Amino acid sequence: MCGIFGFVTEHKESATLVVEGLRRLEYRGYDSWGIAALGDQSPLRLVRQTGKIGRTTAKDLEELVDPADVAIGHTRWATHGQATVANAHPHRSQHGRIVVVHNGIIENHRDLKARLEAEGYTFQTETDTEVIAHLLEWELGRTKTFHDALTRTLTTLRGTFALALVDVEHPDRVYAARLGSPLVIGVGDGTQLISSDANTLAPYTKRIIFLDDGEWAEVTPQGATTYDFDMAATEKIAEVVDLELAASDLGDYPHYMLKEIYDQPQAVRNALGGRLLPSEATVRLAGLTELGGFHPSRIKILACGTSWHAGLVGKTYFEELARIPTEVEYASEFRYRNAVIEPDTLVIAMSQSGETADTLAGLRESKRRGATPLGLVNVVGSTIARECGRGIYLRAGVEFGVAATKSFTNQLVTLLMLSIHFGRQRGMSIRQGLELLNALEELPTLMERTLELDSKIHAISEEFADADNFLYIGRALEYPIALEGALKLKEVSYIHAEGLPAAELKHGPIALITPEMPIVVTATQSFIREKVASNVQEIRARGGRIIVIVSEENHEFDRLADHVIAIPTADDLISPILATVPTQFLAYHLAVLRGCDVDQPRNLAKSVTVE
Ligand code: F6R
Repeated sequence: MCGIFGFVTEHKESATLVVEGLRRLEYRGYDSWGIAALGDQSPLRLVRQTGKIGRTTAKDLEELVDPADVAIGHTRWATHGQATVANAHPHRSQHGRIVVVHNGIIENHRDLKARLEAEGYTFQTETDTEVIAHLLEWELGRTKTFHDALTRTLTTLRGTFALALVDVEHPDRVYAARLGSPLVIGVGDGTQLISSDANTLAPYTKRIIFLDDGEWAEVTPQGATTYDFDMAATEKIAEVVDLELAASDLGDYPHYMLKEIYDQPQAVRNALGGRLLPSEATVRLAGLTELGGFHPSRIKILACGTSWHAGLVGKTYFEELARIPTEVEYASEFRYRNAVIEPDTLVIAMSQSGETADTLAGLRESKRRGATPLGLVNVVGSTIARECGRGIYLRAGVEFGVAATKSFTNQLVTLLMLSIHFGRQRGMSIRQGLELLNALEELPTLMERTLELDSKIHAISEEFADADNFLYIGRALEYPIALEGALKLKEVSYIHAEGLPAAELKHGPIALITPEMPIVVTATQSFIREKVASNVQEIRARGGRIIVIVSEENHEFDRLADHVIAIPTADDLISPILATVPTQFLAYHLAVLRGCDVDQPRNLAKSVTVE
């Protein structure tokens, strides 16, 4: 949440370089943006605006075009204070010496504000960030060196932060600090860059210094010197990283979400590539070699949102195929429970972004309790991937749409591969192993056929574009698919939706059913189809409008449903992955029909780095 991008250079750069960086970081928040630029020959220029930096015009940027020696910028996802210009970063200290951008939350900002007000500081914004600028300036008046003042400030702050700040009296350097929110330094020749996300640096450098929590850096055009918060030098060395330059080209697609729905067959091929091992009826997942002889007797999956839904599918896979008892926890809840972790518990931290603060905190807590961690992460080199130390990359490619699509389906595929791996260690037959490998191999082609349903689902969406509510129901593996379908709809179309186990309807929610209530039923698993059909009968009897997603060979719902979306027939463990695709199309088309910003829905951010 919130993106930071900056540079310090000996070559003089236009601060529009920061604009480019912030555009790439906009997935982290798009409530407002701002840039501060200065140099030894040029006074501070501060541009701040509400809305998306992606929508700025050349005129908005006029003030930034002139060359600068140092510039820092920020794209905001509002936490403290509304999305106003006053609350947009960068923030400046009262006497103007310090300019700061911040990602995270300063939990003790109220106390600090009271202390600083008592010292004569007045606050101009509703943000928690403003205290940082004033506090550092105040410390500068009491300490001998900038370094002392900075470390005193950093150790006074409680909460999480990634910071970039500039001392206006020394416009030849930028300071960066990290505690709980990501921040990296891109090492170049006479120009150093700072960013919340290493991948945004791909056009400029592959040499990256990953700041650790509790570390800060003084960055000059020649390089970065790093310290811990006790001022001991940490002597960080830049790593050469294979960064993924996001192919931001939309091609002929009107939105990233649609493009990414269509990317799925290839994304799944990438996830499977080189990982299926038919000769041994299993999979080869390089990240697992690090597990050595560790055989988990329990699995705990920590995740949030869409990733949590994927985790629920994973639970069934692990229990069904490997007989390993598995729990799926909201990472945010796990952390504050006295959860039982045994030495043979494998904790899977599952996160598309690899930066989700709740998942990261849950991971750290589980490691403190002795768990063996494994990351299932999409973004290479992200904090969760690094802190797990071992894991399996999802290989979904960069996902620009804020609502997860291809990363979700790749999570399901990866979980299935992982459960085949554990299953084969625990008695899964060669025959079942091979059947599953074949089913996985077939999946991309079946997905391509499922994509052909786009125009049919568009037509169905037109009928429901005015709905205020939706229910999604499914059983077994399709209950999480129902949850995910409902979440997708809420996120992008702002239509209220709930996902439920189909049989739970009769225990209460059936009271909601009227002709105004559309119900999406996912019923592709053959072993439970009849039971779902009974649930659909109950809805029909009460006048609900029914859309059923079912395998094409099945005609049980033809007379029961208002609309039948028939997807290719597949193994019961695979068909729920395919059934996801129509729910994605439905959310997408309804959102577009209602004029919503599908790629950057209101109030959301792709990387949620606050608790
Ligand atoms: C929904 C969505 C979110 C994320 C959640 C966790 O489309 O993307 O619910 O799944 O914020 O994010 P990651 O997977 O990055 O940890």
